[in-house]
Amino acid sequence: METTCQRLSSASADLIIKTHPHAEILYWGPRLQHFSPEYIASLARPVANGRLDVDSPVTLMAELSHGLFGSPGIEGHRQGLDGSPRFTTTSAIRDGESLTLIAEDSVAGLTLESQLVMSAAGVLKVRHGLRNLKPGAWQLDRLAVTLPIAERAGEIMAFHGRWTREFQPHRVSLAHDSYVIENRRGRTSHEHFPALIAGTPGFNENQGDVWGVHLGWSGNHRLRAEVKTDGRRYLQAEALWLPGEKTLEQGEMAWTPWLYASHSPRGLNGMSQQFHRFLRDEVIRFPQGARRPVHLNTWEGIYFRHDPDYILQMAEAAAQLGVERFIIDDGWFKGRNNDLAALGDWYLDEQKYPQGLTPLIARVNALGMGFGIWVEPEMINPDSDLFRAHPDWVLALPGYAQATGRHQYVLNLNIPAAFDYLVARLSWLLGDHAIEYVKWDMNRELVQPGHAGRAAADAQTRQFYRLLDTLRARFPAVEFESCASGGGRIDYEVLQRCHRFWASDNNDALERTTIQRGMSYFFPPEVMGAHIGHRRCHATFRQHSIAFRGLTALFGHMGLELDPVTAGAEEQAGYRHYSALYRQWRDLIHGGTQWRVDMPDRTTVAQGVVSDDQQQALFLVSQIAMPDYTLMAPLRVPGLDPLGRYRITLIDHPNIQLTGHGGHTMRKLPAWMEQPQVISGEWLQAAGLSLPILDPESAILIALTRE
Ligand code: DGJ
Repeated sequence: METTCQRLSSASADLIIKTHPHAEILYWGPRLQHFSPEYIASLARPVANGRLDVDSPVTLMAELSHGLFGSPGIEGHRQGLDGSPRFTTTSAIRDGESLTLIAEDSVAGLTLESQLVMSAAGVLKVRHGLRNLKPGAWQLDRLAVTLPIAERAGEIMAFHGRWTREFQPHRVSLAHDSYVIENRRGRTSHEHFPALIAGTPGFNENQGDVWGVHLGWSGNHRLRAEVKTDGRRYLQAEALWLPGEKTLEQGEMAWTPWLYASHSPRGLNGMSQQFHRFLRDEVIRFPQGARRPVHLNTWEGIYFRHDPDYILQMAEAAAQLGVERFIIDDGWFKGRNNDLAALGDWYLDEQKYPQGLTPLIARVNALGMGFGIWVEPEMINPDSDLFRAHPDWVLALPGYAQATGRHQYVLNLNIPAAFDYLVARLSWLLGDHAIEYVKWDMNRELVQPGHAGRAAADAQTRQFYRLLDTLRARFPAVEFESCASGGGRIDYEVLQRCHRFWASDNNDALERTTIQRGMSYFFPPEVMGAHIGHRRCHATFRQHSIAFRGLTALFGHMGLELDPVTAGAEEQAGYRHYSALYRQWRDLIHGGTQWRVDMPDRTTVAQGVVSDDQQQALFLVSQIAMPDYTLMAPLRVPGLDPLGRYRITLIDHPNIQLTGHGGHTMRKLPAWMEQPQVISGEWLQAAGLSLPILDPESAILIALTRE
């Protein structure tokens, strides 16, 4: 007889799953010291009065047919028939810490393939594939991954957002019914980042059990946290399909996206550290090397005003500031003088660039910088040669006027000729020029996305992946950045094929402090594009010192987004200083373990990184508003070796002002800032380090070096 229970383990996590006759996850949590399959008998449930006379499991596929009475993991039918499947496991295939379960419903004529993988980092990956075995299309309305979580998970953290304000966390209590996130924008979206974190009430950065899930998918999605009336609860995630979008003909199969799940008994930091480690181990690969170069992107410096002579001046000034990669943004292609026209016409604007791009690229390279360029391949302006030639290449439904967004339509990538056209034009761009980096933008949402009369948001998302895969196979040394009006397409599936995210169009350091912190729950700093913008931020019109802007961009993949030619000497000195600081610390920031610190005063935001050997740490303390209290609470430094002794050094302390210099909030600095100190890791973690009283919208950077 086959084993009816399987265990998938990492050093930190365990998943115990009963496999027969129906698959059911029995445990997902911290690694168990001891486990034996007979232990699962302890979880055999009683049967409540006034309900079914039999136990109703929350199965792996969460079919309604077991008496789930909650949101099922599968919904669909064959012209009204075969609409309530119940799967029975037929085989379980084990390969290391991967498990594939094959299950069948011979009545409905469906097979289910479930893949569960426990990574070394402790991140669990799960996905399901459904195949139609019988003649007649099976209309697939929903196919979700469902993960049971412990009954003590009574609070949810999720993220809302908008353009220029991504990754804003919020919390809701989870006691009854459901909390649902639905995204119908056709891209990952600024509004509904596909993740849910459930935890014991009050969980914070270092305390509480947390179960975090992220759906790796760049299209429409639905995530749900549900409490059954019997108190059991689960997280569920799926690609959201528009009516009629998914049908399975006989023999056809459809897959859910991968769901990535991380449990931590040590609060949110533990969850994030596992996600980061997993991405570093298994997903993030930099073809040009792991050292992330300092960027300069021309967008906010010149917008559409492309003049190669001036751009060359910008490049020369950038090289003086320590920039290592120079990127020309929107405005280089034929007829692109504003955002009204030309998307789709991927030919060089020869009026702007009569000599072509090559002399500019050669000069940029001679200055010691790599060259990058912006594209937005999935779009087409009504005012473009491409649209005039192919008005039928728009992703739309016949009979309706399609709305424009930023004056553009979406190009239907399901049309082979349109797809091939993009491959050809982008191959010209990347094949004929020494381009090492592409900023791939996507600036509008999908409305009535249609192909051949049917909904096609899912198909469009898959074609986008195929397009990027095709180009990556042809140009394996090119790095890609995923941008969608800033952070509208940030997820683990697009990260399989890109190397950086443009986190936000908002370069305001104050806003970036919360945006980047939100993003850090799931993404490590080396893939988070973080630029120093103009002194007066173009998105908010707030003004910030170069120091606050520089330090805020430090904990990401740093760049400049401005015109270095017109910058004054003081600003230029600042850019030079912060790009040098970034180059000095990037190996630690991009390789170490990241920690967010909960400060009792919500106006103080602290984070840091500790090297894996615990020899070196770097912490940033940002003051985002007027402090609530007259004294700042000590910084309790996490992640250090308790037995180690650390020298504390103030690395960057811009704008620290005492009274007497204009009425600030601090009269005297903490002692360690005036007299160097060496303190034990244990003490720094337990008792902490006194902080200076910072002015609003300023920050300091502290290093701890083991003696
Ligand atoms: C939106 C992006 O987010 C910006 O950074 C810039 O590339 C513009 N598009 C260009 O049109």
